[in-house]
This record gives sequence, C-alpha cells and structure tokens, in this order.
Amino acid sequence: MSIDYAERIPNNVSLSEDRRLQRALENWQPKFLEWWNEMGPAGFQTADVYLRTATSVDAKGWATFGYVKMPEYRWGIFLTERDPNRTIPFGEHKGEPAWQEVPGEHRGVLRRLIVTQGDTEPASVEQQRHLGRTCPSLYDLRNLFQVNVEEGRHLWAMVYLLHGYFGRDGREEAEALLTRRSGSADNPRILGAFNERTPDWLSFFMFAHFTDRDGKYQLASLAESGFDPLSRTCRFMLTEEAHHLFVGETGISRTLARSCQLMKQHDTDAIGAHGGIPLSIVQKYLNFHFSVSLDLFGSELSTNAANYFSAGLKGRYKEADLADDHRLTNATYRVARARDGRIAESDEPALNALNEALRDAYIADCERALARWNKVIEDARIDFRLSLPHRGFHRAIGEFRGLFVSPTGRIVSESEWRDHEREWLPTQEDREFVASLMKPATQPGTFASWIAPPPRGINHQPIEMEYVRNLPPD
Ligand SMILES: [Fe+2]
Ligand SMILES: [Fe+2]
Repeated sequence: MSIDYAERIPNNVSLSEDRRLQRALENWQPKFLEWWNEMGPAGFQTADVYLRTATSVDAKGWATFGYVKMPEYRWGIFLTERDPNRTIPFGEHKGEPAWQEVPGEHRGVLRRLIVTQGDTEPASVEQQRHLGRTCPSLYDLRNLFQVNVEEGRHLWAMVYLLHGYFGRDGREEAEALLTRRSGSADNPRILGAFNERTPDWLSFFMFAHFTDRDGKYQLASLAESGFDPLSRTCRFMLTEEAHHLFVGETGISRTLARSCQLMKQHDTDAIGAHGGIPLSIVQKYLNFHFSVSLDLFGSELSTNAANYFSAGLKGRYKEADLADDHRLTNATYRVARARDGRIAESDEPALNALNEALRDAYIADCERALARWNKVIEDARIDFRLSLPHRGFHRAIGEFRGLFVSPTGRIVSESEWRDHEREWLPTQEDREFVASLMKPATQPGTFASWIAPPPRGINHQPIEMEYVRNLPPD
C-alpha cells in the first residue's frame, strides 16, 4: 500500500475520491502549518534535518531518509491496510463485522476518545519546543525533531478521523486541537502530564520513555477498536511510536553510562562537578515521570472504561492474546486499593478494572526497561540500582489521590512525606543543576558532558554524521 506523495496531502486513503473531505482537510492544512510555525521547534524551522518519511505502511516503508526542513515535512494520512474480514474482537458485539462507520449511539464517546488522544500529540511538540537550543549532540537533536514531526503526523491521523467521520462537530474539534496550548492557564491541553514543562533533556528522555509509553498502551487498546478506521489509524501510529520509546530508553541508558564512567574515573558519587548527572537525581526524575504517566491511565475503577469495552470501542492490550471470553461479564481482577491507612489488593469486577489492567501491562513493560538500565550500572560495577516507585506514589488521579504514599508503597503522614520529598522528587536545585549541564554540543560527533555517545548512528550512518545542518546562529 504505497502512499501518494503527488497529492497536496500525502495519503493512502484515496482522499482524491472524496472531494468534500479533501477540501475540508486542505482547509485545515494551512492552520496546522501556522500552528507548527508558531509552536513547533523554536529556532530550527529553517535547519535541514536528516528525517525519515513514511512512503508505505508496510515494513519496508520506512526506508526513506533525507534532509528536510521541518515545515516542508510531508505530513499525511496513513492507515494500515484494511482487513475485509475483520470482526469486533471484544465486548457485546464480539464477532460482528468491524464498523466502517461510526455507530450512532456511541458517536459522542468515540469522538471524545479520539480528541483526548489527538490532543496529546501537538501538546508534546509544544512542551519540547525549546529543547533544540541545548541539544547534547546533533544525533540527539535529529531524534528530537523526528519525534516532533511524527507527533505532528499523529495529530493529522486523529484529525482525519474527526473530519472524515464526525461531521461538523468533528471539524470543530479539529480546530480546537490547534488552539489549546500546553501549560496555558485559560486553554490548557486536556491531560495533566501534557501540561507539565519539559525543561531539559533528562526530562525529555524520561518523557519519551514513560509518557510516550502510555501513548503506546492507549494506542494499542484503541487499535483493538470495533471502529475499523480508528483501529487502522492506531496500528500505523504504533510503528512510529516505537522510535519515540527507543529515543527515551536509550537516552537514559546513555546518561547512566556516562554517569557511571565519571563515577569510576573520579572515584566519587558526586559527579556534578565533573559534568555528570548523579544517579540519585536520575532516580528522582524517574519517580516524577513514572508517577505522572501512571495518572494518564485514569482511575483504577472506572465505569467509563467498562462502557468503552462493552460497547466495542476500546479494547485491552493485545486482546487476541488474552485467554478469556473477551466480554468479562463475570470476571474479576486484582486491584491495589487504599483501605484504613494501608494498601491491600482486592478482587474487583474486571470490567471496571480495565484502566488498572492496562496500567499493569504498562508497569511490566517499564520493569523490563528498568532491568536494562540497571544492567548498564551493574556492568560498570557500581553499587546502585534504580527502581520504579510504588504505583500509589505521588498520584493525582484515582485510588491514591490525596494520600501520601512513599516510593516503597507505605502510606505515611503528610509531614513524613514532606520530610522526604526532597529525596523522592526533583528539587528546584536538582532542576537548576540539570539545567546548568545543558550546554549545546553542535559539532558533528561531539556530545555534552553528561551523556555517552550512542553505539551506532541513524540508518547505518556514522555517529559523527551532520544529522542537522544549517543551524541557526547562537
Ligand atoms: Fe504520538
Ligand atoms: Fe510519541
């Protein structure tokens, strides 16, 4: 399924056969570009960036790499191929043919799910727009911009669904996606984590690791949807998302590798003076980003989630791999709950616990990545291990909201929590210290003091390639 790049809007959905939709999207396109120029990477819109562009939606489609100025990136609409025999994989309509149109009674809910997902895409571009000036290398700068243009494309993916399937209210939502602003007091983005600042590259890598990973799980459960165009859209987005997770995980690995190297070289944990980030600060950043990302999964017990599932709108992670009836009418699920000052597990109706089930899959994935990070530290023979804080730590949504839970999962008093807050979450000084290390390294093949080079370059190119050319003057 190749993509037609001769069109004004590259697409593989035969857009030219639907004049109305094509006109509507061509009308939205300049507004998107206006948003990109205003809110996209600050100062780098005329730089030449070695980017990949999708040319088809199969595995070979990623082969196209080349220098592009970001505003000229070919954002478009790409869906995985339609399976004409696909049936709804779960819920009350399980086994019925997948819907090619929006089921009337679920229109509002489906639109909300699409808007909420769509809103995160431009939000992250806004959050990251000032990072270019402090890039630790041209390799990292290029990766940041690759992530940014693809988040822009994910916005296109959701706007296509809104325009194509939701009529006038869909068009209005598509406009609103360009007017909300991350962190704005009067018109913020919808979800909390997408209004936080991403002020430095350690935050960026943590965000790409933990918050984009939430995106992976949300997209994977929407990819199960009985509404087939949504499913096909999300399936293709997941292939792009994998690169974002790679950027996050390896960014942290390289930070750890450099910290360990400095610790050994100078025989001290206090590597700040030598331009490295102490492992204790990495742990605090991890605690922060993991906990705000857990909130994105929503309340542990949720009738909304139950309704989405029963209606066939949003499934579970890898629904087909789960060995049950895919309806969950009588099933139960173990949920950690706060009761009488302690945390204990209880069996809850599985339908109501779907957010928690998705969060569990996410946490297991985070544990696997954590083990890889700890291997970097172990291989350096350093006696320190990172850990994920307890799921109740520092939560603003759901069961643990308003409680003070330590990283080890103990409910403590507010005063005890405040006594330890500086050990558990980044302090103002930590953030200022990290910011002080964010000196740009823009000579090809050079890296900032706090991060190790990657093991290999992009697309089999050398690490010292000039991945971004034509940089703005300092
Ligand atoms: Fe995305
Ligand atoms: Fe992403």
